[in-house]
Amino acid sequence: MRYAVLADIHGNAQALDAVLQRLAAQRIDRYLCLGDVIGYGAQPLACLERLQALQAVMVAGNHEQGCIGRLPLSWFNDLARAALEWTRGELGITELDVLRRLPLTATEGPCTLVHASLQHPEQFTYVVDVAHIVESLSACRTLFCLSGHTHQPCVVEYERAARHIGRVLTAAHEMAGVPFVDDAAAMRYWLNPGSVGQPRDGDARASAAIIDTDARMIHLQRVPYDVAAAQAAIRQAGLPEFLAARLAVGR
Ligand SMILES: [Fe+2]
Repeated sequence: MRYAVLADIHGNAQALDAVLQRLAAQRIDRYLCLGDVIGYGAQPLACLERLQALQAVMVAGNHEQGCIGRLPLSWFNDLARAALEWTRGELGITELDVLRRLPLTATEGPCTLVHASLQHPEQFTYVVDVAHIVESLSACRTLFCLSGHTHQPCVVEYERAARHIGRVLTAAHEMAGVPFVDDAAAMRYWLNPGSVGQPRDGDARASAAIIDTDARMIHLQRVPYDVAAAQAAIRQAGLPEFLAARLAVGR
């Protein structure tokens, strides 16, 4: 099986389309989405439709929860709040119902999907240090725990019995091809695929990952896309200028 892992698309249809075009040539069997399909970007509807057409397995991110009122708008910073209020106006009853039905966690084959921490998925904490990643991996019952939210790609290998942290990979080039041990009794892997629509690791290209269970490899993908078009859509929608500007620098 080849799983495509997408996170934090954030209403950026230009970035999503470029990623999907790249993935289409790579025999993907199943699309997995770790939440924050919407928010910040100007094409939330288009992004939701693409994922539904692919029958992607999806979990809710904090932006979905904010949109349907399960997180108060006061939880978000000013930029996110402005974008969420705009996004709410773009979505119809049908789309809001789709968001309401998204679970906080899901399991698909060897993968557990969550937007942030697996221990407390409803809190949407930023899992940025290895100790917290290991806490989530200890709570994970499958080989892979897939998580987004930080917009920074990352792979952490953990040997359960020895409680030993193996490889910790945080640079995109390190994750171009990462072999994994296909033994769920002994191992756990944390995979953050980075952000499709609003990368924050200094690389403006869209980020996504593939898990190939036959070849036993994880591959990070960085995909250039039409940043200027995504910026123009944000400006035309009247969303905050910073949301357009940051796309050019990947921060
Ligand atoms: Fe996000």
